[in-house]
Amino acid sequence: MPKITIIGAGAVGATAAQRIVEKELGDVVLTDIVEGLPQGKALDLLEAGPLFGYDSKITGTNDYRDIEGSDVVVITAGIARKPGMTREDLLKINAKIIREVSQNIARYSPDSIVITVTNPLDIMTYLTMKTTGFPPQRVFGMSGVLDSGRFASFIALELGCSVRDISAMVLGGHGDTMVPLPRFTTVLGVPITELLPQETIRRLIERTVNGGAEIVNLLKTGSAFYAPSAAVTNMVEAVVKDTKRILPVCAYLNGEYGRKDIYLGVPVKLGKRGVEEIIELKLTQDEKKALDRSADAVSQGIASLSGLVS
Ligand code: LAC
Repeated sequence: MPKITIIGAGAVGATAAQRIVEKELGDVVLTDIVEGLPQGKALDLLEAGPLFGYDSKITGTNDYRDIEGSDVVVITAGIARKPGMTREDLLKINAKIIREVSQNIARYSPDSIVITVTNPLDIMTYLTMKTTGFPPQRVFGMSGVLDSGRFASFIALELGCSVRDISAMVLGGHGDTMVPLPRFTTVLGVPITELLPQETIRRLIERTVNGGAEIVNLLKTGSAFYAPSAAVTNMVEAVVKDTKRILPVCAYLNGEYGRKDIYLGVPVKLGKRGVEEIIELKLTQDEKKALDRSADAVSQGIASLSGLVS
């Protein structure tokens, strides 16, 4: 069984742990700084095993030594957005947390694949890669899978069709500049540009871009976790089963899409070695412009890390 560590036993971390053991993707170590929290949630999940019929083991800990030798580490630690906060507001607080977590991952699981979930996503993923010193192929972030899931849900509601037949594509940073691409978003291969009026597509795109905030505003005391943890689980599955799925992932660019030394949401092939290939789509001028705008916003965030990145 692969060893999958989840750092942060909040709503996203604990729900990801639940989904991962229910699918028996590996044995899970749930860690958090709060005493008793990961132990309690892990024990509760372990006791659900006989009822749901899974044999994955799950333990909770406050000690980084217990993550030793993990195959995959998922970082969900950090504070979540409150109403009115942007993901960027979180930057300062979460950067400190990511630094400490990444140093411990490098120390105890030097060969692991790391999936960052903490916001602001693209910037925290960059900081994870720099702090661990891991090759960029082994460090990537969860954003596009979630954003595409949201886009696909709204399209299915609009068309009254099954979500199963929809393949949605959302690229760029996980923020207000994300880039849903209707030309590459299809229902059984047919682009939605042929199925829905432009005005409707614009509305669905806007709802997708604001998808995280819509949930924050409803919950008031926290942010989304069911769909984010589902997205994490899909990505962990692609890695541990080496499925080579093509998914939109926050990946390190070194010249692809005309950008360098940046993390940005792009389609990749995901397998046991992590990001095994970056897929470059042929974008129109407008699409390229939107992606550039998003990349510029991420670059600005990365620049504000100065002092934290060596
Ligand atoms: C969201 C937050 C987690 O998109 O970024 O729901």
